[in-house]
Amino acid sequence: MLGALAAVTRVLPVAAQSVVMIGGPMAGSVFFTRDDPGLWASEIDRHLPEIKTEAAPGSTTSVSIRTPHPMDGFKHYILKHKLLDARFRLLSQKTFNPERDQPFSRHVLPAGYRGPVYAVSICNLHDTWIEGVMIEGDGLSPAR
Ligand SMILES: [Fe+2]
Repeated sequence: MLGALAAVTRVLPVAAQSVVMIGGPMAGSVFFTRDDPGLWASEIDRHLPEIKTEAAPGSTTSVSIRTPHPMDGFKHYILKHKLLDARFRLLSQKTFNPERDQPFSRHVLPAGYRGPVYAVSICNLHDTWIEGVMIEGDGLSPAR
């Protein structure tokens, strides 16, 4: 069955992002991205969410979000992941307990969803980070 699963994303170049651009004026202040890490330039590697997608049964797509960030109890941890659609509407979210969870979440898109999705990862000390990928109908290239 795993052989039937295929990655269906690619990283969005900024110019290809559709309705809402994560490279807009709030990047680097309200939230942070790879290109606009603001005051947290040294924190990109631990805070930028990693996104992987796989085709799932029923014409759906499974989206996994991982933040490569340690969970140091309630002192320093990832609070939450959110998955947003092309208009930044919330599709799903997961809240973490740093005493038992790792910053990983899995989400399932509505059947037939195509277009950009955005992963949001929130750190209690280093704020909100966003990464986007494009969900393509016939794309087979990995996200990274
Ligand atoms: Fe952090």
